[in-house]
Amino acid sequence: MTHAIEAERLVKRFGEQVVLDELSFSVAEGTVLGVLGPNGAGKTTAVKAVTGLTRLDSGQARILGRSVRDESDAVKQLTGFSGQFAAVDEDLTTAENLVLVGHLYGLSRQGARRRADELIQAFDMGAYARKRVGQHSGGMRRRGSTRQAG
Ligand SMILES: Nc1ncnc2c1ncn2[C@@H]1O[C@H](COP(=O)(O)OP(=O)(O)OP(=O)(O)O)[C@@H](O)[C@H]1O
Ligand SMILES: [Mg+2]
Repeated sequence: MTHAIEAERLVKRFGEQVVLDELSFSVAEGTVLGVLGPNGAGKTTAVKAVTGLTRLDSGQARILGRSVRDESDAVKQLTGFSGQFAAVDEDLTTAENLVLVGHLYGLSRQGARRRADELIQAFDMGAYARKRVGQHSGGMRRRGSTRQAG
């Protein structure tokens, strides 16, 4: 079975500090994984490692069977990442932000609009679609910033 995420013996050090010490886990497709731990435990580092946003000292991660290190373009197409601070343009509406990112993923004008509409439905954001993101709560901003070309 291909896992959505497969992490194998991930090691990440910052200087002398070993933040990920041979961390292994896998996540089945269609499931939700919650990662709990104290501040500084390494949760964000682990998420960055499996999405290719940080370079590992050793170990390997796969997204839907694709190597995060060796197939980074494919992995970027397959992942959406909404960090502690959402990267959205506050002067645009939710719909406009989604269309903008659709263009960055290479969708046509019409394709980006269609995908934005699909995501607005899927994330139940109809009431917020045409409002400026600057007026949204933190959680709403993040909801509108997790996206994938699909
Ligand atoms: N770029 C960096 N350079 C040096 N040390 C870092 C860097 N990023 C994280 N660290 C250190 O790695 C450890 C893990 O940090 P990380 O951000 O992964 O923790 P976290 O579990 O996400 O914490 P929180 O619950 O506060 O979000 C911490 O000790 C942190 O100081
Ligand atoms: Mg964190």
